[in-house]
Order: sequence, then C-alpha cells, then structure tokens
Amino acid sequence: MSGHGVAAGSGKAHKLWGGRFASGPAPAFDALNNSIGVDFRLWPFDVRLSKAWAVGLWNAGVLTLDESRTIERGLDAVAVRLEAGETPIPSDEDVHTLIDRLLHEEVGDVAAKLHTGRSRNDQVATATRLWTMDALQHLDLAIRELQQVIVDRAAEAEPMLMPAYTHLQRAQPVSAAHWLLAHFWPLDRDRARLRAAARSAAVLPLGSGAVAGSAYPVSRTLLQGTLGFDAISPNSMDAVSDRDFVAEVLFGCALAAGHLSRFAEDLIIYGTSEFGFVRFGERFSSGSSMMPQKRNPDALEIARGSAARALGDLTALLATIKGLPSSYNKDLQDDKRVLFDAVDMMTLVLPAFAGSLGEIRFRPDRMRAALSSGLMATDLADYLVRRGATFREAHGAVGRLVREAEEQGIELDALPAASFSAAHHLFGADASDALSAERSVELRNVDGGTGPDAVRTQLDQARAALR
Ligand code: ARG
Repeated sequence: MSGHGVAAGSGKAHKLWGGRFASGPAPAFDALNNSIGVDFRLWPFDVRLSKAWAVGLWNAGVLTLDESRTIERGLDAVAVRLEAGETPIPSDEDVHTLIDRLLHEEVGDVAAKLHTGRSRNDQVATATRLWTMDALQHLDLAIRELQQVIVDRAAEAEPMLMPAYTHLQRAQPVSAAHWLLAHFWPLDRDRARLRAAARSAAVLPLGSGAVAGSAYPVSRTLLQGTLGFDAISPNSMDAVSDRDFVAEVLFGCALAAGHLSRFAEDLIIYGTSEFGFVRFGERFSSGSSMMPQKRNPDALEIARGSAARALGDLTALLATIKGLPSSYNKDLQDDKRVLFDAVDMMTLVLPAFAGSLGEIRFRPDRMRAALSSGLMATDLADYLVRRGATFREAHGAVGRLVREAEEQGIELDALPAASFSAAHHLFGADASDALSAERSVELRNVDGGTGPDAVRTQLDQARAALR
C-alpha cells in the first residue's frame, strides 16, 4: 500500500496506489493531479471519518479491537500534529494520502489496514459533506450578524423619510427603515436556502467504496450516527458522484452575493455627493493615493464585485457536472476549488459588509430634501379617487398637472390653485394636503407597506426571524 510510486526528486513518495505502475508519475502529471493545495483543509473531517471507519471495520470483524484502537489513537496523534501546524510535503497527492502517510508514521504497518473496504471516492465525498455541514453553520451566523446590523440601523432610521426609486427614478416616499429592511428579507431567504443545502449535504456516502459499495459488512447506520448525518445514500454509484449539495451551496452563495451586491450598490450611490443620503465611515473605506479628498466605499465595492466570483463558481460546477459519465470522475476533484472559493468569499465579505453598514451615517436632511412633491403624484390621484373620480381619470388629471409644472420648471406644489381646478373639478382647496410626504407614508399601513404601524410590525417580524 505504501512506497510504490516515486515522486521526482523527492525520494520515495507515500502513495495510496501504484502497484500496477512500473514507473512513477511525471512531474507535470503530479503538478496537475495533486489536490493537496486545495483539499488540505478537509483534514479534520477526514480524520473524523477515518476514526469512524476504523470502528466500523472492528464492528465488521475486519480489525481486532486492539488494531482499531491503535488506528484511532494514531489518527488523534495525526490531528494533533496537523493542528500544531504540520504541513504537507510536495509528494502528498491529496489530504487522504497525507493523513495515511502521517498515520503510518504514528502507528506503523497497522495503518495499512485502515483503507480496507473504502476508497478515496466515498472518502472525499464524505469529508466534503462534513466540511460543508460545518461551514454552513458559520455562514448562517455571519449572515445573521449582518441582518442584526440591518435591524439595528432600521430601528434608528424609522422616522427618516426618503424617496424610494423604481427604474432609479424617484417614485414614492418611504421610511428609510423600510428601504433597509428590503435588504433584510432576501438574506433571510438566503439563510433558508443554505439550511436546505445543509440538509442535502447531510447524506452519508461512506460505505459506497469506489463505486459498487464496500465488500465488508460495515454498519452504515453506525457510521451515520457517529458522524452526524441525517440519512444514508441509497445508491453507491450515485453517492460517489453526487455533488448536488455543492451546487446548492454555490447557488445559495451566488444569490446571497447577488443580494449583497444590490444592497452595496444602493449604499454606494446613496453615498455619492449627488445623493448624499448616507456618509461612509472610515474603518471600511479607503483614500486615494492622488486625490486627498477621497473616501471610497471599498468594502461595499468589493462586496458588489464578489457576486461575479460566486456566479463563476456556480457556473463552473454546473458545467463540470454536465455530461459526466456515471459515478466518480476526476473532473469532480475541482468541486472543492469552487466550493471553498465561494464560501471563503462570503466569509470575508459578510463581516466587512456588516461593519461598513454599521458605521454609515444617515443624512435625514438630504433624504428629506429629495422628497419633491412630484413623488406624491399618486397621492394626489388618490385624493381625487376618494372624492369620487375613477383612478384612470384621476391619473390623467394629475398627469396634466405634472406636465404643466414641468413646462414651467416648477414643482407640483408650486402650481396655482387655478391649475388644479382646471385639471379636475373635484380638486378642492385642500388638494395640496395630498402632497405631503408624511401623509403619503402614513396612509400606507397595509401589511408590508411603509406606514409607521406597518414598519413597526415589520421590525418586530425581522427581530423574530433572528430569534
Ligand atoms: N483528491 C480526490 C478528489 O478530490 C480524491 C478522490 C480520488 N479518487 C480517485 N479515484 N483518484 O476528488
């Protein structure tokens, strides 16, 4: 089992295969094939599943109790060494080879019995699933922390009014809390999606062997219980190649990153001098090497840009899976490259986003100043509806007023009363009351609306979602 292949220039390499090869692999092959640079981080999970496998082999009568215990203790010692910073050597093909080599160093020849009835195919699938189950818990916390900052900032922004935009054109007044919470709910759905992906990951492949299932009667139920999986894979050929859970995580990350990019874009444009609704803090911004006046929202820009990477990772995996023949193929080795990239990216972006949002200053005066009376044109039409006009008719009348104001280069509320009564006979002296932004917002207490009561309820719902 060991010492067959020879890596160029490094003496005898520890290998998990090689008996049927007369010569060793070419350096250019090793450079391409070795995945230790990517999969090294799986080691805690490979150690865990290997210990469970040793117990399983004892249970199946393959190992004596003594052998099984020696291997388990050896794996613990391997974990201690790796924890202490032991790094792979160039001839370690992948994390499984590395751990096998270290186990040999710790316990000698009995280590060679551990690989009985298993393959790196079921092993890597199991380790990757364990890693994913763990990583998604951390990701969930990181998203939750950003959501908490959103809720806190929304509570503060509740009394501030600002324009909501459609087509990036001023549309209607809203509470700034309503805008912030519009970015809370997508993240809540992202968490639900990633929880579902974690459930997809929690299916045990170990025992599937290379493709046809293990020839030793290892209890998969025992393995499932020991390793904390929800279920056991029902088909060994499927189990060694099922990367659906990776695709689901990548989709979850790509969509979450898309949501963050949208939120970042809002903040970035609202932070421009032209909008001026927010002012960026200093801890998550950078200056310019040339222009002394600059304070750039780099964290948010990187968050926005990172969505492209997440999208690329998802696309790469889906393209890898497409058209592959049944069961394990080496193409699948790259699943981890994209999985780790996307999760690492989210792990970096989320706290920086939360920090950036946390230190932003709102500028309610600038928000309020952007609420030109034209934003209440719908409310003016609603005024006519309340007085008996049909909405279509009211829409036309207000549209004429808007055109008139535009032609004169003035705001809607600067038009003389005569213009109103000319536009529709139902306009009374109180028509201009309908052009109040406060009133416009107050009227929208429908569930999910921007009215004060509705926003208070929404804040409660958001807080409840975080409990
Ligand atoms: N490093 C490999 C991977 O990540 C482990 C599985 C190798 N299987 C094989 N048949 N060579 O996919």
